[in-house]
Amino acid sequence: MIGALKRTYNLATLCYHRLFENLLIKKHIDKFYLIAGGHIFFQTLSAAVELDLFTLLDEHPGLTCGEIASRLKVEEKPVRILLLGCASLGLVRKRSDGYFNGKMTTALLTRKSPRNILAVIRWQHHINYKAMYSFYDAIRENRNVGLKEFEGEEPFLYGRLTHNPELELIFQQAMQAISVQANAMLARFVDFSGYKHLVDVGGGNATNIITLAKKYPKLRATVFDSASVCEIARENIKKAGLEDRLDAVPGNCFDDPFPEGADCIIFCHFFTIWSEENNQRLLDKCYEALPKGGAAIVFNMMQSDQEDGPLSSAMGSPYFLTLATGEGMLYTWHEYEAWMRAANFPTVKKQTLIRDHGAIIGIK
Ligand SMILES: C[S@@+](CC[C@H](N)C(=O)[O-])C[C@H]1O[C@@H](n2cnc3c(N)ncnc32)[C@H](O)[C@@H]1O
Repeated sequence: MIGALKRTYNLATLCYHRLFENLLIKKHIDKFYLIAGGHIFFQTLSAAVELDLFTLLDEHPGLTCGEIASRLKVEEKPVRILLLGCASLGLVRKRSDGYFNGKMTTALLTRKSPRNILAVIRWQHHINYKAMYSFYDAIRENRNVGLKEFEGEEPFLYGRLTHNPELELIFQQAMQAISVQANAMLARFVDFSGYKHLVDVGGGNATNIITLAKKYPKLRATVFDSASVCEIARENIKKAGLEDRLDAVPGNCFDDPFPEGADCIIFCHFFTIWSEENNQRLLDKCYEALPKGGAAIVFNMMQSDQEDGPLSSAMGSPYFLTLATGEGMLYTWHEYEAWMRAANFPTVKKQTLIRDHGAIIGIK
């Protein structure tokens, strides 16, 4: 009788512990695996992207491991290991012997999807991954130590990439993928109807001003960027048939005056590159250059004012410290507002947007 009671008690205790492990601990342990194994899981994703596995599964859902291996022209054993990683991460689902993409995988990781971020994964792999090994040193030295992975003497990643056209192309394609999607949001949600002439500082290949000019038929706009980037911008403006309203002026925003005549000066994905002091300098300079009623707009991903996320800012900030410039990060809403006020803008508006983006608008 006592033996039976003991066995029942032991069984109940075991059940309780299993339930506790399954419900509570597993969730945390899985999260910890993702953190501690981040390098391996990123390389799982990156290898699958290089092999274009997800486009293959999009075109032929339900392929088995052997069929995938033969189509990718690699041995079955390594594909089995890759698929184990992809299935554990939820990138693919295994049903019976067949593999299928999840919905998110189809949208973000297949070549035909207009929202794909394949170029961003390639940028992370070919450029950022090696540099991030130096994050610890970058913290200790407060500079972009990861730059040593790239040929040249230039102080910023952008200059170093000019020595390696293959990497520069990978970088530009990733920036394009990020910007096209994010800047479309700007045209959709921020109202530019009150402005006549927009200057897009660090405006890149002009994708942004072309989108805005199409939406606002009376708007004039100018890209202000380096000479080589302005050439690309001019070609795109010409292709879009918008030369009558759009142009590109070469210059360095810290040393040269902003192009004349602007009543709106915008910085897209630009303030994250620079230090607090440099950002303040730029806003002071905007205030001087703008007419009364004119606006300075800062548009990029934002860090929460509690400084505890989101993950996008925690992911982007080490990149700016360790590699890009050694001085930038994703700043908080509060910081942008404070810089606008310190530059004397009497009205400062804040607009939250999707995908952790936001716009801070200072009106003179
Ligand atoms: C991260 S990209 C952002 C491009 C674009 N604004 C967007 O949202 O897609 C930064 C841009 O700033 C330009 N840039 C960097 N330093 C600059 C400077 N001192 N003056 C003007 N443009 C600069 C680069 O050439 C590049 O086009």
